[in-house]
Amino acid sequence: MKCRLGILLSGRGSNFAAILEAIERGDLPGAEIALVFSNHTDAAGLDLARGKGLKTLSLEKTDFENRRAFDQALTEALQESEVDLVVLAGYDRILTSPLLEAYPHRILNIHPSLLPHYGGKGMLGIKVHEAVLANGELESGCSVHLVTDVVDGGEVLGQGRVRIRPDDTPETLAARILKEEHRLYPQMIGRWIEQHFSQQGVSHAQQV
Ligand code: GRF
Repeated sequence: MKCRLGILLSGRGSNFAAILEAIERGDLPGAEIALVFSNHTDAAGLDLARGKGLKTLSLEKTDFENRRAFDQALTEALQESEVDLVVLAGYDRILTSPLLEAYPHRILNIHPSLLPHYGGKGMLGIKVHEAVLANGELESGCSVHLVTDVVDGGEVLGQGRVRIRPDDTPETLAARILKEEHRLYPQMIGRWIEQHFSQQGVSHAQQV
């Protein structure tokens, strides 16, 4: 039994591409992609998913009364696709209770800093790297963490470290960290599956 991933993305989807490549290479034998979702109909990541013949869905926030109603519809779509693990891959919306309660300890995110540093509301994209450089840090990196109702506050499952160079700009640093993200995220998904899903699969099989 494979762990069915629900990918949530808002933009270019390079982390999604790295996860997909890891699956195609056979590096994530326990995973399959059940659904790729975006809150932007024009997200480049959706095109990639469609090109690979994967199931996709996009919903626009303007079609919903509030965040909870949006997340309720998204949760139902994930459940219909029998998603086991939700993987945020550059998803720019804060999650609300319908989704958090349906997938407790089953939502992962990647953030481009060494959490708990440089995380939380507003610490997004290039702003993270600007702040890191402005503070004269010697290293930065990325973190894969569980998603809870505290933004970037869930348990950190793994980190990748990147040394800061004297001539770094926010853009060069972001690019080096992104490469590290592409290595770390598939690895952490694989580890999560081994620790939390494979065993469950075995016990389920034993009960049958
Ligand atoms: C990444 O830097 C990730 O850390 C952050 O959003 C960015 C997404 O990039 N959460 P991509 O869409 O995966 O290329």
